[in-house]
Amino acid sequence: MPGATDVLDFSLLTDGLDAEREQGITIDVAYRYFHTAQRSFIVADCPGHEQYTRNMATGASNAELAVVLVDARKGLLPQTRRHTYICALLGIRHVLLAVNKMDLVDYDEAVYTAIAAQYRRLAQELGVSHVQCLPVAAPSGDNVSARSPRMPWYSGPSLLQLLETVDATPFRAQDFRMPVQWVNRPDQTFRGYAGTVCGGSVARGDEIVVQPGLQRARVERILGPGGEQQQASAGEAVTLCLHREVDVSRGDVIADALRPAAVADQFTCHVLWLGDAPLLPNRTYRLKVGTRTVNARVMSIKYKVDVNSQSRLAARHLDLNEVGYCTLGLDEAIAFEAYAVNRTLGGFILIDRQSHATVACGMLDFALERSSNVHWQHVDIDKAVRGASKGQQPLCLWFTGLSGAGKSTIANLVERRLHALGYHTYLLDGDNVRHGINKDLGFTPEDRVENIRRIAEVAHLMVDAGLIVLVSAISPYRSERRSARELFDEGEFLEVFVDAPLDVCEQRDPKGLYQKARAGTIRNFTGIDAPYERPESPDVHLLSAGQRAEQLAEQLCERLLALQGAGSGPV
Ligand code: ADX
Repeated sequence: MPGATDVLDFSLLTDGLDAEREQGITIDVAYRYFHTAQRSFIVADCPGHEQYTRNMATGASNAELAVVLVDARKGLLPQTRRHTYICALLGIRHVLLAVNKMDLVDYDEAVYTAIAAQYRRLAQELGVSHVQCLPVAAPSGDNVSARSPRMPWYSGPSLLQLLETVDATPFRAQDFRMPVQWVNRPDQTFRGYAGTVCGGSVARGDEIVVQPGLQRARVERILGPGGEQQQASAGEAVTLCLHREVDVSRGDVIADALRPAAVADQFTCHVLWLGDAPLLPNRTYRLKVGTRTVNARVMSIKYKVDVNSQSRLAARHLDLNEVGYCTLGLDEAIAFEAYAVNRTLGGFILIDRQSHATVACGMLDFALERSSNVHWQHVDIDKAVRGASKGQQPLCLWFTGLSGAGKSTIANLVERRLHALGYHTYLLDGDNVRHGINKDLGFTPEDRVENIRRIAEVAHLMVDAGLIVLVSAISPYRSERRSARELFDEGEFLEVFVDAPLDVCEQRDPKGLYQKARAGTIRNFTGIDAPYERPESPDVHLLSAGQRAEQLAEQLCERLLALQGAGSGPV
């Protein structure tokens, strides 16, 4: 593609998208494929701007090697540091530093040597283990595919020679691991477990364990694309047949029985946030690691990392393109390895449960000790026994709605009626809880998420104690209401939407808070400058405008009593 100047413009090879050219920047990851006699290559051309850190991470997550370009006239820039940090974070162990535009500094060796020395120090500081540097002049191809006669002082290989010879062995995963992608069971006579080996190798007769469980078996057959094979190693997609029947499902990890993976449900990890809406600690996301998907929460952000300087900053949430070091809690234990050891079993993504968008990528570091040392203690007197001794069906009634919609008033009336009938109840009111257990929380999105999580956990304990619990809290987010519901057994949680239009609530303004919010003296007020996400399918929908609270409470009580299977009180 010779241009007007008859000089090859290599950027045309990788700049695939029209919009990129219009803006003069790369905005997505453009993949290009080429091969030489020695090797095949996939080039992930990533944008360099800070607001596209997520794109760069996407490209880096699958790469074995990064080529970092610096302009010989400018030397190392803040973006050089940022790019190298992202490469190191995503586990790229080899970096080639191409000091470009050597033609514009008269092919001066001293300029190159100074930049290369500076970069080696930087790479070492950031934990990149292998660095090779070379001087190039890309437009004229000097040192790109062939050694340049214009820089005789450089005696090393060209860029292409380096690419062809660099050790690209992925990672250090030594022990056999295969996440099960599919259980292949066409009929009673065959049962095979299909997946891609992501560490070590396996041979016929090897003893394996199915994790996170402890079942062991021997490998009887290994089936690959060409039929039966003796062994399989990392990168190969195979089907394993075992010598005896064990319970294996998609998401399990088949591992070397003698050197199994660790199993845990709490970790420290790096998280790179890719979502437009911020990461909120304690919100539940779907986490995918290997072929397994589980519910997960970032329990705390220990710090966030300034991607330009790597300084550590305090953070309560993570915004788009931010990196945080976090603790992570899962609903179920998983077999895992540190990302530094195994990219597949240590790398994860987080998925938003409402939008199904991928909102983060992350790298597991190590398991928290508490994760394997705290067990669930069995108790003999359980919820059913406690409920029975009170003659009732334990239950959580969750009232959600705007401030002033009438939640607390209706909840209070319902509780009075139930109490009068002899039921054992407790009303957890948002305002009241905020005087005690949630005294430390305000009204930022992250505090509300935590507020609702704690209220839900307390309500769950109370239901476990056999009570009928009424929760009255704005609980403005669908995600947290859903997480609350998931703590309970089927039929034990009723979402009651107390629905009144904002202007009605504002007119009522029982606590004078809307007035303050409008005046700007309080901020983050639900309905004014903070969102309320209406329930999409509440169990009970009460339209409270123009209705008497007593009537609505009555309506709800009838429904509850029907659920309790009695009309007049505990049996
Ligand atoms: S929630 O959003 O986290 O569920 P919660 O129900 O616990 O809120 O508390 C809401 C109560 O706090 C309201 O009834 C109101 O009295 C009071 N409040 C004070 N500031 C705010 C605010 N900024 N937004 C909403 N409620 C507020």
